[in-house]
Amino acid sequence: MRRTDNEFLARYGPWGVVAGASEGIGRAFSSELARRGLNLIVVARRRTELEDFAALLRSDYGVEARALVLDLAGEDAAARIEEATEDLDVGMLVYNAAYSLIGPFLDAPVEEHLKELDVNCRTALELTHLFAKRCAGRGRGGIVLLSSMAGFQGSPLIANYAATKAYNMILAEGLWEELREAGVEVLACCAGATRTPNYQRSGPSGASAMVPVMEAEAVAREALAELGGGPSIIPGKRNRIASFLVRRLLSRRRAISVMGNNMRSMYP
Ligand SMILES: NC(=O)c1ccc[n+]([C@@H]2O[C@H](COP(=O)([O-])OP(=O)(O)OC[C@H]3O[C@@H](n4cnc5c(N)ncnc54)[C@H](OP(=O)(O)O)[C@@H]3O)[C@@H](O)[C@H]2O)c1
Repeated sequence: MRRTDNEFLARYGPWGVVAGASEGIGRAFSSELARRGLNLIVVARRRTELEDFAALLRSDYGVEARALVLDLAGEDAAARIEEATEDLDVGMLVYNAAYSLIGPFLDAPVEEHLKELDVNCRTALELTHLFAKRCAGRGRGGIVLLSSMAGFQGSPLIANYAATKAYNMILAEGLWEELREAGVEVLACCAGATRTPNYQRSGPSGASAMVPVMEAEAVAREALAELGGGPSIIPGKRNRIASFLVRRLLSRRRAISVMGNNMRSMYP
C-alpha cells in the first residue's frame, strides 16, 4: 500500500524499534524508517557499530535515535526492550535479527540450534506480542517479521534455521488477519539471498543456481511499500518467479532436493 511519508509517519510513528539494526537488512530498514521521520530504538550487540549508526541516523535524518545494546538470544531481551520503550509511543516493530547456522545438522551441538529458536522465534514472539498490544491499544501500527524463502520448504544444511523462518512467516500471516481490525498491520518479509555482511561472512563460494543476490536497501523498500497490503512479500521479481517455480511446479520432494543441491553448490 503506497503511503506518503507523512501518512506513514502518522500511522507508524512517532517511534519505531528495529531489532538487529546496525548492518545488513536491519540497517536498511532503519534508514528507510528514519527517512520517513520515525524516531528509532536500534538494537544490536556490538556497541561501537550501533552507537555510530544511531549517530548517523540523527545527523542524516534529524530524528531521535537511541542505541540499545543487547543480545536478542538473552531471556531478558524483550523485558529490556520493554523497559527502554516504556515512555515512548511505539507504532512500528521490525524484527530483523536472526541466528543462522549453516552446515550439517548433526555437526552443531543442540544448544546452538536452541539459540536459533531463542533469537529467531522466542524473542521475536515476545516483542511481537508486546508491540502488537501497544499498537492495538492506540488503533494503528505496523510489524514486519523477517522470514526467508528458505522457510517455504525443508532446506538441507539450514534445516532448523529454515524452520524458524517458516515460523516467522506463519506467525506474521496469522496476525495479519487477526489484528487487522485493531489497526495493526503485520507483514512477513520473505527475503531471498541478500548481500549483507552476515551473508558475505557465511562464505557462499559457489553461485546460487536459483536466485540472484539482492541489495538490502531494495528489500527494505519493497517490504515497507507492501505494509498494509500483505500478508507477506517476497522482495524481488526474480525471487518471486523462482519461488513460483519451486512451490507451484515442483513436487515437495523435488523442491527440497533442489534446495539441498543449491545449498551444496553454494557451501561445498
Ligand atoms: N542476508 C540474506 O541473504 C537473507 C536471506 C533471507 C532472509 N534473511 C533474513 O533477513 C534478516 C537479516 O539478515 P542479515 O543478513 O541482515 O543478517 P543478521 O545477522 O540476521 O542481522 C544483522 C543485524 O542484526 C544484529 N544481530 C544479529 N544477531 C543479534 C543478536 N543475537 N542480538 C542482537 N542483535 C543481533 C547484528 O548486529 P550485531 O552483530 O552487532 O549484534 C546486525 O545489526 C534475518 O532475519 C534473515 O533470516 C536474510
